[in-house]
This record gives sequence, C-alpha cells and structure tokens, in this order.
Amino acid sequence: MLTDRPSYQALQAHYAQIGSLHLRDLFAADPGRGERLSGEAAGLYLDYSKHRVTDETLRLLVALAEDCGLRGKIDAMFRGERINTTEDRAVLHTALRAPRGQSLSATLVPESGEPVHEVLDRMSIFAELVRNREWLGFTSKPIRNIVNIGIGGSDLGPVMAYEALRHYSNRELTFRFVSNVDGTDFAEATRDLHPEETLFIVASKTFTTLETMTNAQSAREWVLNSLHDPLAISRHFVAVSTAAKEVAQFGIDTDNMFGFWDWVGGRYSMDSAIGLATMIAIGPAAFREMLAGFHAMDEHFRTAPFASNLPVLMGLIGLWYNNFFNAQTVAVLPYDQYLKRFPAYLQQLTMESNGKRVTLEGESITGYQTSAIYWGEPGTNGQHSFYQLIHQGTKLVPCDFIGFRQSLNPLGEHHDLLMANVFAQSKALAFGQAAPPGQPYREFDGNRPSNTILAERLTPAILGALIALYEHCVFTQGAIWNINPFDQFGVQLGKVLAQEILPSLKKGSPLPADDSSTLALLRRYRAE
Ligand code: F6P
Repeated sequence: MLTDRPSYQALQAHYAQIGSLHLRDLFAADPGRGERLSGEAAGLYLDYSKHRVTDETLRLLVALAEDCGLRGKIDAMFRGERINTTEDRAVLHTALRAPRGQSLSATLVPESGEPVHEVLDRMSIFAELVRNREWLGFTSKPIRNIVNIGIGGSDLGPVMAYEALRHYSNRELTFRFVSNVDGTDFAEATRDLHPEETLFIVASKTFTTLETMTNAQSAREWVLNSLHDPLAISRHFVAVSTAAKEVAQFGIDTDNMFGFWDWVGGRYSMDSAIGLATMIAIGPAAFREMLAGFHAMDEHFRTAPFASNLPVLMGLIGLWYNNFFNAQTVAVLPYDQYLKRFPAYLQQLTMESNGKRVTLEGESITGYQTSAIYWGEPGTNGQHSFYQLIHQGTKLVPCDFIGFRQSLNPLGEHHDLLMANVFAQSKALAFGQAAPPGQPYREFDGNRPSNTILAERLTPAILGALIALYEHCVFTQGAIWNINPFDQFGVQLGKVLAQEILPSLKKGSPLPADDSSTLALLRRYRAE
C-alpha cells in the first residue's frame, strides 16, 4: 500500500513539520522564489511558487514519484504496453498526436489497416468539403449546420474545443452539440435549423450508448420527417466510432464513418476522429496545430526530469494537498471566456480517470485519498460568486488560474482589467490581509495555494498543450495512487439499473420488488 512506502511516510513526517508554514514567510525568506519556482514547456509558463512547499517538499515528492515507478509507467504508456489492465488495452492517445511517421499506431492496428494519419487525412478531406460548401445535402443544398451527437468524451472534448477555438472557426457554419437524453437538448439544438442544411455527426466509441443512440434515432426521424427518403441519411449523417458493425446496423453507411481504436479512451479521444466537429470548425491546418501542441507537451512529459517536468510537478503538488492537507477539491479558474467549458471537460478527465477506490492489484484503498473533485468557472465571473469561500471559508481549495498575455478580442482596457484580477486573486489568496481591529470578518488569513498558468495567447497549439498538461498530471497522480486511470466501471451500475427500471415507468406495468424509496418514486411518477 502507498502509505507503507518510506517515501510516503517521509512526506507525512515532513508535513507535520512544515504544514503550517505561511506563504508570507516562505516568500520573505527567499526573494527569488517567484522566479525560481516556475517552469516553462510547450508555450506554457507555470508559476508554482504560491504553494505551501519548500525545496525539501519538492525533493520528497519527486522521490515519491520515483519510488512509485512513475518513470517506468510513463515509458510503458508511450511504448503501448497494455497498462489499462482491467480492460486489457494499451493507452495510446499520445500516438494520436505524434507527427506523421512517428506514430506507433501503425503497428498497433493492423486489423483495421487505417492508422492515425490516414484517418486524419480522410477527416481533412471531409472537413474541407463541408467548409467549402461542397458537401451537399439530399436536396443539393450545401450543409450549413453541424450537430455533434455524443456524450462524455464524445461530447465534452468537441464542445470544449469548439468553444475554446471559436475565434478560429468558420463563422458561416453553425455548430451545435447534443448530449443529454433529455429531449430538450435535441429540441432546442435543432429548433431553428433546417434538415436540408444539417449534418449530424454521431460520435460514440461503442455506438451503443443509450443517450447517443436515442438522440441519433430522433435525429434520423427529424431528417426523414422532412426529406421523406431513407437515401437522405447518407448525406446527413456521418459516424465516428470504433464499432463499424453497430454503425452499419444503425443505418449509417460505413463509407461515412471515421474510425478510431480501442486504445483511445473516451476522455482522451478529442484528437481522434471524435474531433471531427472541431476540425470542421477550425479547419484541418489549425487542427494539426492543436495536435502539435499536445505533442510538444507529450515530449516534455516523456523526457524532462521530474524536478522540472510541469505535469509531474502539478500532479505531485496536487497530491500534496489531497493526501496530506486533506484538501477535497481543486478549482480551475480560466480567465478567458473561450475556456468556459474547460472545467467541465476537466471534470471527466480527472474524476472519471482517478475517481477509484481499488489498486491495480485489486485491493481496497485504505488510508489515502484518490482524485480530488474538480470544478470551476471562468474568471472574473466566479469572483462574484464562490470566491468568498475560497478566500475566507474553512476549506482549503487549491486553485489553478489560467490566463493569457494577449486577448483574442482586444477591447479598450478589458484585457488589462481581466489580468489584473488574475494576479490580484492569487496574491490575495496567498498573502491575505490583516483585519482592522475588532473586525475579524474582514481578515484574509491567506496561505491559500494556487498555480498560475500563463501563455501568450489562446491558439490551437496552446489549447493542445494545456489539455496534455492536465492529462499527464492525471497520469502522474494515478501512477502514485496505484490505480488504473483508464477504466470507468463506476458508470456501469446506474446504466444497468436504468434499463431495469425503464419498463416499470409505464402505468399498469408490474412494479418491481424494489426498495421502498424507489417504489414510492415510481408510483408517484406513474401517478398511481
Ligand atoms: O458512461 C461513461 C462513458 O463510457 C465515457 O467514458 C465515455 O466517454 C462516454 O460514456 C461515451 O461513450 P461512447 O463514446 O462509447 O458513446
């Protein structure tokens, strides 16, 4: 167990010594701290000086990573070993963004015969056809609306990247994202669209996900109600999936399918064909720039020594609060409106990956915590909402601030005002302020830690680097917690129970022998 390792126990002893040190004192003792505890990679600057760590803390954390075999685990992932042991799969999202000729995937997918760059090339041709109005609908009108139907990793990556890179998108096309099985999502997304000009991308790794299949079925009816000919389907639907048989069964021509592979996890799939909507929006060249940004961070993670490896440092420092200070959450605070869906995207990446309670050997974890709860909102909006708790509440909430030197929409003084707030917030959190006599409610006790991630501007490459930074941070933590970040069995039970419950929602159908709460709710729903 992790807690039995001397390297972990050394950190426990160290925490007892320095856990209550104040950032004010750490900065006072070391005038160069702000510069020294910072690093740079793939266009991202990380300031990690406002953390409750000393050089010794960082040394001990790196020693823990080494002791837990992080180096070997990183190498095993990049080599394509089957590190997703519970599903017996390799984990090779890094191969999706390796430059042409360097991609391992060619050797990994002999049965499909279509390696990464071949799919990217096919996607590029298709994306250009749509962007150039050359992909015509059934009535020969060009497609103007693209609706991505998917959920989880088949939605959050595409919608986050579309919003993040909207500045670079083709403004003559309309993009919508439908995920929820709640019919409102589909109804509102299509209310003002015309089927003749609408293309659906049905994105599902398995092509069996209830929500996606239900929405895709409704989309099919929506198109046929208007175009009245099943032949229309091939002009208005494309599929992105690993499951050709299921795609064909649904009625989508597999010529209109873009494939990927079982070694791409759903929450790691936005660089695969799952990114088709993103590619149509920003164009193939910008999409490849995004992949290059991911790859630059992959290379940094793979090769940099741990003490200067940004994802490793972020992962270790996060673990320091999670496991020793008992911090429950991490707030992700992008100061860029384009990143408004980034916290939601990170929630799946972090919590579906590392929200686990069993080790790789199948033992129940006792004595230490795994994933923190990730949440957040763009600044400055959050400042007028939940920052009160971060500044003065009783909980310790480590924060990640994300900002850019240049705005994509320079407008008067807006950007300076925005960035002044980033710097002010992390400063207030770290250093606080004494209260006027007799007014303890005005005290800011400070010592509240944060990362600040700065980049020049929000480009496709920077977005790629930023996502890869978090992906590898998650990997680092999973390696130390000795869990499998690449399965998600925790989502299964609810899915199975929903299928069991579904028939009993109909009035008059037999009620299951259920717990009294579920029974009462079913009766109420059936109005019996
Ligand atoms: O329910 C969780 C999940 O399996 C995610 O891991 C995945 O991203 C999502 O569902 C969607 O799965 P699919 O792409 O197979 O429809």
